Amino acid sequence: MLDKEKLQEVEVGFLKEGMILSGILYDEKGIMLWPAKKPLTTNFIFKLKINDIKKVYYVPPKYKDTFANNPVISPQTQEYAVQAIEEIAHQINYGKFPDFNTARATIERFFEDIKSRPTGFLNLMTLKNYDSYTYNHSINVGILAMFLTKKLGFNDFFIQETGLGGFLHDIGKLKISQKIVNKNGILTEEEFNIMKEHPIFGFNLIRDEKSFSNYVKKMVLLHHERWDGSGYPMKLKAESIGNFSAIVAVCDVYDALTTERPYKNSYTVNDALIYIMRNTLYHFNPYVSQRFINEIAKMYDLGSFYPAGAFVQLNTGEIGLIKRKDSEYELRPEVLIIKNFQGAPLRNPILTDLQRDSSRTICKTIDDPREIENLSLLLAA
Ligand SMILES: [Fe+2]
Repeated sequence: MLDKEKLQEVEVGFLKEGMILSGILYDEKGIMLWPAKKPLTTNFIFKLKINDIKKVYYVPPKYKDTFANNPVISPQTQEYAVQAIEEIAHQINYGKFPDFNTARATIERFFEDIKSRPTGFLNLMTLKNYDSYTYNHSINVGILAMFLTKKLGFNDFFIQETGLGGFLHDIGKLKISQKIVNKNGILTEEEFNIMKEHPIFGFNLIRDEKSFSNYVKKMVLLHHERWDGSGYPMKLKAESIGNFSAIVAVCDVYDALTTERPYKNSYTVNDALIYIMRNTLYHFNPYVSQRFINEIAKMYDLGSFYPAGAFVQLNTGEIGLIKRKDSEYELRPEVLIIKNFQGAPLRNPILTDLQRDSSRTICKTIDDPREIENLSLLLAA
């Protein structure tokens, strides 16, 4: 028998073709109906309906359990936010100049909710409806950006500004054919080139909006810029991207990775943080992304990212052991290098402090038990 306490109940009317649930779907007697992570079919939903099944259940992943019961944003605010962005989309589609007052009012509501529920979880939904992916994504990025801005020590004004920038960051996509934006698959080169215009389209939509600060306008324009200059549209580098655009950039990538789409499974929170960690210094502002990783890891109780004593592989191909780390600089600990880039053991291991040694970064932890055993033996020799 299933423990209903741990289950997420879903009304059959809410199910749609192509939806992917993160857990196995059961009926109320605990009989399995559909496997996890497999897109639902029309046929399956039809069968539920003709068998008069009104509700189904699934077990959300552990880390999402708490969230489901304790979202940081109230359902009323979520609904208000979706309506606000729908309204803006509608006005743009009809060639009108959008009324952004509702966007500002949405952020004020987010702000109030966050203040009154400081322990709530950040994600909005465990079950996402793909039709409204863009809306969900806008809301999530807005909330994540506010959270990160707060953790970075900025004041209430900036928390609300990044909320607005995060909420509106992809507004330029409303100017692009929805066939491309909602395509269930990899974009062609031509389609991707069109998509890459969205920061400029978005900026043009808000550039004359007097109630928006330059911070908000820059977040919309620069959220795809990357630390190493590989982003778009301006190919800006490092500090010139600005802290707030860097905040939106990391929140945008994190939410995209952790969201299921019809054509891809979502990353776990852990894997998404590892992705961000590996791309720090290439794509992300190191200070901003490091704080983001630390805070999200803390929230999901993922423990220490590079525990002292773990073996890691560096970007140079060398293998090392984590010696000591400063909790503020989790990504740049002291590492004792014990194998060179060719895999040969070093007779004299090299101790390096990654906070000072910028040529080396950690690529991954070594988790193969046999390899760990061999490395431990090498260390003991
Ligand atoms: Fe974007």
